[in-house]
Amino acid sequence: MIDSTSLFGRVAAEYDFGRPSWPSAALDLVERELQLGPEASVLDLGAGTGKLTQLLLERFASVVAVEPDAAMRALIPREAHVLPAAAEQIPMPGDSFAAVFCGESFHWFDWKAAIPEIARVLVPHGGLVLLWNRPSGGLDSADWPAAVGEALNRLLDPIPHEHRYLSFAWRDALTDSPFDELSFESVRNAGVLEPERLLARIASWSHVASLPDDERLALLEEVAAQLTAPRYRATLETHVYWTRLST
Ligand SMILES: C[S@@+](CC[C@H](N)C(=O)[O-])C[C@H]1O[C@@H](n2cnc3c(N)ncnc32)[C@H](O)[C@@H]1O
Repeated sequence: MIDSTSLFGRVAAEYDFGRPSWPSAALDLVERELQLGPEASVLDLGAGTGKLTQLLLERFASVVAVEPDAAMRALIPREAHVLPAAAEQIPMPGDSFAAVFCGESFHWFDWKAAIPEIARVLVPHGGLVLLWNRPSGGLDSADWPAAVGEALNRLLDPIPHEHRYLSFAWRDALTDSPFDELSFESVRNAGVLEPERLLARIASWSHVASLPDDERLALLEEVAAQLTAPRYRATLETHVYWTRLST
């Protein structure tokens, strides 16, 4: 069983450099739907290196960022109130937040413990926002050379990691919970990456980051040798889910 709370720390710099940010249209949408004003206090849960935290700081009066991994946490903008903790035990009093945001993190949680914790720290009818950046054309998320796809496809069983999102077990965990039914919209998140950034993005994927060092470095070297173009197009879709506490 992989420990999701320390998996990303070994690639924190690559994560921060290579991973995409979040489109403002996705945040506009949930701000509107959940009627969140600039005075709102919000929680970024599983904040990573703070990509979403930064955007929340630009919109809301108070942002708390909870992240269990020290190396990831070290990169979160200092304007946020940063806490070393996990979703299953949030070190904040009840009724603290108008909304909780989970950017590419909710699929890693132990939902049995995390969902009641999220409900506890929210005000009545508080909002929950779940975001994922997904490749828009299958698993390949960029127009990289075929040899890169082949090298990545050789990886032993990347499916369990993918499966955490695609199984939708996280969505089932929210049925019969204190939350209303989830709403969903997909928002385009297109980007163009230099090869260094694309390589860092690949290095930060959980099924690559969790390989033994020798395998991981050999794979990245092989991929790097193939990335000879000045830039690559990477078209993603941001999957946006939101709901509110029923009471
Ligand atoms: C894919 S990263 C997403 C980071 C960030 N939210 C973003 O927008 O880029 C997933 C993060 O969730 C964190 N994480 C994993 N398990 C967690 C848990 N049980 N509670 C809170 N965070 C967790 C990881 O340490 C990692 O930083």
